Amino acid sequence: MDPSRPNTVRLQRLARAYRETGALLAAVELDLFSKISEGANTEHLLIDALGISKLNAERIIIACLGLGLIVRKQQFIENAPDVERFLVRKKSTYAGEWMFFTHPDWDKWGQLAEFLREKSSPELNNKTVKNISLSEARRYHEATFSIGRGAGRQFLRQVDLTGRTKLLDIGGGSGAYCIEACKKYPKLTATVLDLPEVVQVAAEFIRSFSLSDRISTLAADFNFDAFPSDIDVALMASNLPMYGREAIGHVISKSYDALVAGGEMHLIGEALNGSRDGPADPAMWGLAQTLNNSTGLAHSVDDCMQYFSNAGFINIQAKEFIPGVLKRISGIKKA
Ligand SMILES: C[S@@+](CC[C@H](N)C(=O)[O-])C[C@H]1O[C@@H](n2cnc3c(N)ncnc32)[C@H](O)[C@@H]1O
Repeated sequence: MDPSRPNTVRLQRLARAYRETGALLAAVELDLFSKISEGANTEHLLIDALGISKLNAERIIIACLGLGLIVRKQQFIENAPDVERFLVRKKSTYAGEWMFFTHPDWDKWGQLAEFLREKSSPELNNKTVKNISLSEARRYHEATFSIGRGAGRQFLRQVDLTGRTKLLDIGGGSGAYCIEACKKYPKLTATVLDLPEVVQVAAEFIRSFSLSDRISTLAADFNFDAFPSDIDVALMASNLPMYGREAIGHVISKSYDALVAGGEMHLIGEALNGSRDGPADPAMWGLAQTLNNSTGLAHSVDDCMQYFSNAGFINIQAKEFIPGVLKRISGIKKA
């Protein structure tokens, strides 16, 4: 076959990628990966353990093998390393809830073209989070917590908070970053700023780590409400594509004003590279905002650095945070 001659393989894979999503989510729901880890490590044992028909068990096992989620080793099967770490229920690293985070959008993706034809003006209030019920906030943040603690630890591997005393986590969700930071730095205090339903959930997580004396919550909308002053670290993580350029620029300027001289800000976001031609994951987070008719879109790392510069920050830097997924843009308020 002439390798320079285009074929349909890539296009076919993209056209049917929803099947792969379905296979992964079904395997998580059936707890297939936990069963392998706990000893059902041959095809026969796994078929029995799944408790579904033999034919369907064979189908989902073969699909997981085909996707490389599980691998054959002689007569045994085992989880791929990422699956073993993040999709085995009893492990502290379990992130199964996060796999379902965007699941409420599932049906709408099948009608994306209709959403793209929408003519009404986008709304600043993002309906995925504004005025959601407490039970939806709980579902949403069980998911973000399952991935956010690892992200919080990654933040602390990159950023030394020695000597810092007051962290404001803007759109801090479950409080995962604040919990990890306060565990590591005993003199640090933190505030999780988020919408009213969300801070109720954050308070529950914070209590479960006995950190309520050092981590407070603040029910506020970061687009409209004032920030507390005298903070020396401002953090905003994983909500970048939810809002347009003006709104994000505004939040970064407000954070600058709230910081003490010499304070630092970190924006951890799903950002595109400077030429705005990838990575795909931030591009998809931006596209997903079509479904909400929000102002959100995929910002580039250069856009983000410009927001920091417009706000007055110095020493502005952009670093990889989770390659292909998240970047960290930081700046200092002049001393
Ligand atoms: C994907 S979650 C990320 C949570 C947390 N930063 C983390 O990384 O684990 C996005 C968060 O931003 C919050 N958020 C979005 N818009 C907001 C607004 N206008 N005011 C306050 N919080 C907001 C959401 O409620 C949600 O908790």
